[in-house]
Amino acid sequence: MPKVITLPGDGIGPEVTAAAVEVLREVAPDVTIEERPIGGLAYEAHGEPFPQVTQDALKEADAVLLGTVGGAHDSPWNKLERRLRPESGLLALRKALGCYANLRPVRVQPGLEHLSPLKPQLARGVDILIVRELLGGVYFDGDRKIDGDTAYNTMRYTTAEVERVAKVAFWAAEQRRGRVTSVDKANVLEVSELWRRDVQALRDREYRSIHLNHEYVDSVAMLIVADPSRYDVIVTENLFGDILSDLAAVIPGSLGLMPSASLGDGAGLFEPIHGSAPDIAGKGIANPAAAIMSVGMLLRHGLKRSDAANHVDRAVALALREHPTRDLGGTADTRTFTRAVLESLGTPAVG
Ligand code: NAD
Ligand code: IPM
Ligand code: MN
Repeated sequence: MPKVITLPGDGIGPEVTAAAVEVLREVAPDVTIEERPIGGLAYEAHGEPFPQVTQDALKEADAVLLGTVGGAHDSPWNKLERRLRPESGLLALRKALGCYANLRPVRVQPGLEHLSPLKPQLARGVDILIVRELLGGVYFDGDRKIDGDTAYNTMRYTTAEVERVAKVAFWAAEQRRGRVTSVDKANVLEVSELWRRDVQALRDREYRSIHLNHEYVDSVAMLIVADPSRYDVIVTENLFGDILSDLAAVIPGSLGLMPSASLGDGAGLFEPIHGSAPDIAGKGIANPAAAIMSVGMLLRHGLKRSDAANHVDRAVALALREHPTRDLGGTADTRTFTRAVLESLGTPAVG
């Protein structure tokens, strides 16, 4: 029997994870689900944001479902030594799982264009896959320090790191429309010069059927909202991918519609891209769609159950039509929306 470890985390994490778990139980009743601590609450209970009890549980996991970690700007957690902060727990988790490729789909479902703040003709049919490198760049490994009035971080990549994530992007493009846009800042950064060179060389060696182009990150930040339909697969380094994917959330209409799958060496990690939303935590109004759609990605990529994944995606789209949450201009709370998804799951597919 497959085993899924859930890590609800902080803020709205437990609220949206509870909704996601209900859906997972409904569509995959044979899956064993076990919960473990991560983030700020794990620090409170165990003195570390990624405690041993959680690390041990991962060894048995077929997939991991994460909520969110982190506190508000004035949280005492932000004054802890950096390795003890909630976000460090998340980074350590990604590293422990070896999840170097973070898939962040940006999709406007037919009939849901009205949820986007963009003009319907711009939003219609958007289907972008952002492949964000997740274990390198300025986030990991290089020198980093704050020392009085001077601070630095180091952005660093190796050819091996670039190639392994680019392969995932090319593979994904082969199942889609065959186009990859590699995003960098090669006009300024040496790291981007290497990134561009290695992505292009890999394309020329092994993926000649893929159409590859290169764009600068500042320009993409404009074009992704001004003309989103020009993109199929976007591949980029860790920090650029973090920023571009929150920006791209504007296209479907909310961060609450952005799921993700992080794939790599072992069990996959599935999580909404949004944070712990301290401003709405505990109110029961968070949009659980991204967490539920992450269950869809878990079923598809983690457990190889694409029928169940499609079923979940369809139920979310139906629930969004009838019961949009407040972040989307509707009135549904977390409970109402989740119930609508569960009800849609019980409705047979039409057509
Ligand atoms: P955030 O994503 O938590 O919130 C940004 C805005 O979007 C807020 O107004 C919030 O209410 C809204 N929002 C986000 N998700 C929503 C949802 N599902 N439904 C309705 N509204 C939603 O970003 P932030 O405020 O910059 O960060 C808060 C904390 O979360 C910080 O501690 C940060 O480090 C952490 N964080 C964690 C993750 C993660 O766990 N993967 C991701 C991003 C930020
Ligand atoms: C995300 C978050 C994380 C990141 C933080 C909380 C470490 O913003 O998952 O997008 O920067 O990767
Ligand atoms: Mn982010």
